[in-house]
Amino acid sequence: MKVFTDITSLQNFLLPKRRQGLQVGLVPTMGALHQGHLSLIRQAKSENDLTVCSIYINPTQFNNAGDLEKYPRTLELDLALLSTQGCEVVFAPTDHTMYVGNQLIRLDFGYLTQIMEGRYRQGHFSGVGLVVAKLLNIIKPNRAYFGQKDIQQFFIIRQLVRELAFDVELTCHPTVREPSGLAMSSRNQRLSESEREKAVGLFQALALCESALKNGESWKMAHQRAVEWIETEGGIRLEYLELADGDTLEILTEWNQNKQAVLCIAAFVGEVRLIDNVILF
Ligand code: PAF
Repeated sequence: MKVFTDITSLQNFLLPKRRQGLQVGLVPTMGALHQGHLSLIRQAKSENDLTVCSIYINPTQFNNAGDLEKYPRTLELDLALLSTQGCEVVFAPTDHTMYVGNQLIRLDFGYLTQIMEGRYRQGHFSGVGLVVAKLLNIIKPNRAYFGQKDIQQFFIIRQLVRELAFDVELTCHPTVREPSGLAMSSRNQRLSESEREKAVGLFQALALCESALKNGESWKMAHQRAVEWIETEGGIRLEYLELADGDTLEILTEWNQNKQAVLCIAAFVGEVRLIDNVILF
């Protein structure tokens, strides 16, 4: 496995491969890898000749300095995991490599940045859009892979790719869960044992809403039922629980069974903020 920290060496390695007609898959990550990331790597490997995993904790997508500081950093372990999966290339740049000189560009994704994660994490999606645009420009992959857990991020990146005409195929890979239902996330590493048990509450609240909706309850009733459960038994501090359109992510006030929708949740477990979602068919 080749590990690059600078752009020129990475590109010097990739260019002849691309000229030979090899297909390149990119899995962008911020490290602290878990089974969710590894399943993205496996999918990328099965669909490309060469898989590049980027590991970069992107400061511009953190709207809270404490959160950036506490983000888990496990590079040595990440490299060991990637090599067990047969990942061919790792790109692990420094801040100086990714943000050289005066950075003036800010990205605005319209309504997508005014709802859910965008509403609670000002500037977050501008930072995600910027870093993903940089990675796509540097690596020029044929395909790029993202997890469904960050579904709003996927919509942002899809918009970026469409509007700026990046020549890349995107995949949104289903969320990988612990046997308890807890969605795998690098942030789970910050949870204590008892918090990890409580964190299942995000998935349980989603499941409760889903079954209420599928039993014919209105969204208002289903939402109220889930909020009451969270407040009495859930052990998590809810930030939002929303029903969104499966094609546009616009916020819905009612579920139309004939159209795909997404139930999205964000909540704190102790100090750790987690998100999750389920797609309703
Ligand atoms: O999902 C992540 O890990 C990050 O937001 C990403 C896409 C690697 C950009 O920094």
